[in-house]
Amino acid sequence: MLLYFDDQEDAARRLAQAAGLTATAIERHRFPDGELKLRLPATLPAHTVLYRSLDNPNEKLVELLLATRTARTLGARHLTLVAPYLAYMRQDIAFHPGEAVSQRIVGSFLADLVDAVITVDPHLHRVATLQEAVPGTAAIVLTGAQVLADLIVQRRENPLLVGPDAESAQWIALAARQHGLDHRVCTKVRSGDHAVAVTLPPGEVTGRAVVILDDMASTGHTIAAAARLLREAGAATVDAAVTHALFTPQAMALMHDSGIGEVWSTDCIAHPSNAVPMAPLLAGALARLREAQAPS
Ligand code: R5P
Repeated sequence: MLLYFDDQEDAARRLAQAAGLTATAIERHRFPDGELKLRLPATLPAHTVLYRSLDNPNEKLVELLLATRTARTLGARHLTLVAPYLAYMRQDIAFHPGEAVSQRIVGSFLADLVDAVITVDPHLHRVATLQEAVPGTAAIVLTGAQVLADLIVQRRENPLLVGPDAESAQWIALAARQHGLDHRVCTKVRSGDHAVAVTLPPGEVTGRAVVILDDMASTGHTIAAAARLLREAGAATVDAAVTHALFTPQAMALMHDSGIGEVWSTDCIAHPSNAVPMAPLLAGALARLREAQAPS
């Protein structure tokens, strides 16, 4: 069985269908004071999957606590969390004295709740594996880079992939290798939530169909800054592709005003820019988990 919350019904049902699971909604009631009451099916199979992408995560983490603790009492001995977007992975060290290391805290919280986690392009930079961030769980990491590359080559002829910052180099390399594409990576200095300075790498872009590719975008400032420079340098078109469409309400307008044509994203986070479903890859990961758990 795959449990989901109604605000993520479409992506959850796509996954249930691809994985051959029964999709069942968790009922949710909000009391006038804001507290939540959840209701799950009265009995659950030993292997239960919970679909919850963790964008806007604060309330969703409380829902996960209530849902998983309840699921255990209803028969779910093995709980897998499918969280295509895994929140709080960016703050992985205390950059200044006194800062909460959110990745470690939220990772341990999730590890206490579930037995396995499947996610897509988690923002891990100073730890090498998801197991370090969510200790003691079976953890599977997928990437959106290659399926985005598949889409990009359908939509643009001979595209040049550009990563907006050093951290994007890993996804640019994967996507470029998938189809043998030209690729480059910019440098970026962020001085605030809404302040970034991007520098283009050397190389001609005149007349090229450029696609900026990154794991996530939020305010859109990173993509917008890169797009402005690429347009000034003579790119024929500049589009953007991201795994996680975390976009703020202003982000799309900012990017389009900066010369971005199309914005494509995976459905890890529901957004009008979604162009690539992750269900086939997520279903494959669930199948691998089941195989690993099957008695030999
Ligand atoms: C940072 O390393 C990420 O990969 C993105 O570049 C960043 O989160 C984008 O944020 P924004 O859209 O707010 O510039």
